[in-house]
Amino acid sequence: MNRKVTIPSLYEKKRSGEKITMLTAYDYPTATILDEAGIDIILVGDSLGMVILGYENTLPVTMDEMIHHTSAVSRGAKNALVVGDMPYLSYHVSSKDTIINAGRFIKEAGAGAVKIEGSGKSRLRMIRKMVEAEIQVMGHLGLTPQSIHQMGGFKVQGRGEEEQLISAARSIEEAGAFSIVLEGIPGVLGEKITQSVNIPTIGIGAGSGCDGQVLVTHDLVGLSGGKVAKFVKKYASLREDIENAVKSFKSEVEEGSFPADEHTYS
Ligand code: KIV
Repeated sequence: MNRKVTIPSLYEKKRSGEKITMLTAYDYPTATILDEAGIDIILVGDSLGMVILGYENTLPVTMDEMIHHTSAVSRGAKNALVVGDMPYLSYHVSSKDTIINAGRFIKEAGAGAVKIEGSGKSRLRMIRKMVEAEIQVMGHLGLTPQSIHQMGGFKVQGRGEEEQLISAARSIEEAGAFSIVLEGIPGVLGEKITQSVNIPTIGIGAGSGCDGQVLVTHDLVGLSGGKVAKFVKKYASLREDIENAVKSFKSEVEEGSFPADEHTYS
């Protein structure tokens, strides 16, 4: 039987060396599948914008979109910890706005925690303010997609900046975050950061030395169109399965073999 995942239970996993699993979901049925499979953390990522809403990047995603999808995921997650990803500009303007926006994920959408990207002075202040307001925060370092314009695209980060990233991770921990996502950094650095902090690190394209791993579920099940990143492992080919099912439906309707007698009320 799966047990309710809590922040103390995640610390315990880091302590004992048991790996943490995190996947994204944006809707109720996917949340129920991940939850029943025993995934520890369900992240309602702002990847919602690209994966579900068809935006070019994550920048246009709004608070209302995130709250709508996080609510659906929370209804499907009985044991997993649900983390709502704060969208661009929802935690950048003032600590008052940040607490109000983060609080919506907890109060309205039923999330257990929120995630924010970055490690600058203002980010650390926002983390402290949210933690003071009893809101649990996950950090996110390395390739932070909301900084796409600053990074000049989705590129591996941290090469030649190892010390800066290690010190940024320590600052995020000191500010009170309970965990950090490490994205798109060399594996060696992922491991070094993991050993330098007491809070769990969850890697995506950050090597096997992190305390846990996260992927975008649509990538893992082969639903995303186009090319996927090097760090993605495709465990299924749902896009092809759906295409084949839809083509079969179309041809059976067109040739008259669907619906058959067994699909028809007498
Ligand atoms: O938005 C997202 O899905 C994320 C993960 C890829 C970590 O931030």
